[in-house]
This record gives sequence, structure tokens and C-alpha cells, in this order.
Amino acid sequence: MINHETVFPKKKLTPAKVRKFREMIYGYYREHGRTMPWRLTHNPYHILVSEIMLQQTQVQRVLEKYESFLDAFPDFPALARAPLSEILATWQGLGYNRRAIALSRISRIVLEDFHGTLPSSVDTLVTFPGIGHATASAIAAFAFHTPAVFIETNIRRVYIHCFFDDRDNVRDDEIRPLVETTLDASNPREWYYGVMDYGVMLKKSLENPNRRSAHYQKQTPFEGSNRQMRGMILKALTRRPHVTEKEIAHQLQADKAILKKNLLQLQKEGFIKKVRGKIAIA
Ligand code: ADE
Repeated sequence: MINHETVFPKKKLTPAKVRKFREMIYGYYREHGRTMPWRLTHNPYHILVSEIMLQQTQVQRVLEKYESFLDAFPDFPALARAPLSEILATWQGLGYNRRAIALSRISRIVLEDFHGTLPSSVDTLVTFPGIGHATASAIAAFAFHTPAVFIETNIRRVYIHCFFDDRDNVRDDEIRPLVETTLDASNPREWYYGVMDYGVMLKKSLENPNRRSAHYQKQTPFEGSNRQMRGMILKALTRRPHVTEKEIAHQLQADKAILKKNLLQLQKEGFIKKVRGKIAIA
């Protein structure tokens, strides 16, 4: 294992240090880089779907779902005309269902406002539902070869580990200039694949450097259990729509007050609707 403190001291990032850092990332990538289907394509729709899936779901789980999702909805028009209930059924297993609604809305915006072509600019992509700055930049880099500067969890871990060895509460605005200076603008796709894979390796082999990020946040058990319940409600409604609240409570063996709160939340977010006392997917 390289002693990063001696190789990349905090003081100043010289061209020689930039070169060394790049060599280390590319060296690791050549030896241990992961092959993933969304890394073998340039199709913007495929890359969009993969990036939205990867936002909050582990690579292994995404690998199990990515192909079947694209089989069911092979392009923007197919996704745009699909009913939400079908999209959610195909999304089952990925969690955080709000992302499936976002994808459906994105596909309609692309068809209606962009002649069916996903825009390549980060500034435009961030105006789409479910796409924040990191996802917009990842799409720009992977689908359109744009050297966009962005930070996500694996990238953050690499820079904290290599350049902020002795620090706590490292803020993203301190990391961003380093990402910008070290980025291989001639090949942002391979570069970011390499940085991400290096970050995954660090997570497995060391104390997680992201604990020293000012943005580190662990999910509370409370958030986790409500999310799990909302997932179970949608799964139950996908299998059997138009049921009463009482029937769902019985089926899920759920606490009635907590169930009510989660149903209201799902209704507010546009996942479900209530018609004459019966609940179904919106
Ligand atoms: N390859 C391409 N995008 C990725 C991502 N968001 N996470 C991990 N690997 C990726």
C-alpha cells in the first residue's frame, strides 16, 4: 500500500504530484478496474438509467436489474408511454422508488422539449427531476466525454484519503479544486471509472475516509424503517391494487399510525392515490 502522506503532501499540488496521482489511479484501474455493462456503452439513455440506479443502490444489485429494466423500456419513448405501475414493478428490488418516477418524468421531458435527445450540458441536466449536480456531471462525462468536475461518495473518499490525511470535517469545496486539477480532461470516462474503483478499494481495505468528510451522514434507523415500509406498501399494491388501508395494515402487520403517515407521504409524493377509500398506485 502506498504511503499517500509522503507522495501527496498537503502543501502544494505540483505537476509532478498530479502526474504521480494519475499514474496511481490508472495503474490500479488497469489491474483491478471493474467491467460493468454501463461502462461499455455510449448510449445516453442507458447511461442515464444506470446513473439514476447507482445513486442509492449498490453496484451488485444494479447489475441484477439494469438489463431487465432496459429490456422492458429500451428507449425514451418506451419509458415515456409506460404506466407508472409497470415501471415500479420493474424497479422492484432497487428501493428508493422516487427515482423510478423521476426517470419516467425525464423521458417525457426529453420527448416533449428536446426532440427525444438527452441534452449534454450539465446546466440543463440539473433542471431535470432526480438529477443533481453529481449525476448530471457523471452523465456528461460518461455519455458525452465532458470533463465535468464532480464529487460523489467514492471520489470523495479517494481525495480525503490521498490529500487530507491529517484532517477531519473536510468540506467538498476544499476537495473540488483538487478534482479539477487532477482530472484527466482527455479521457474523463476512464479517469472517473478509475477514481471510483480506487474509492471502492479504499472502503474495503481501511477505516472509511468519508467519516472525515464534513458531509458524512449515516442513515438513522428511523429513516430506514419508514423507507422500508414505503417499499413494502408499493410492492403490495403492485401485486394487488385497490385495497383499503385496513387491508394493507393487516397484510403488512404494520402499526396503524405509522402506516397512515407513510401512506400520506406516498400520496403527497405522487406514488399512490386514494379513490373511494381504496388505495392504488397513481
Ligand atoms: N461506473 C459508471 N458510473 C458509476 C457509478 N456511478 N458508480 C460506480 N461505477 C460507475
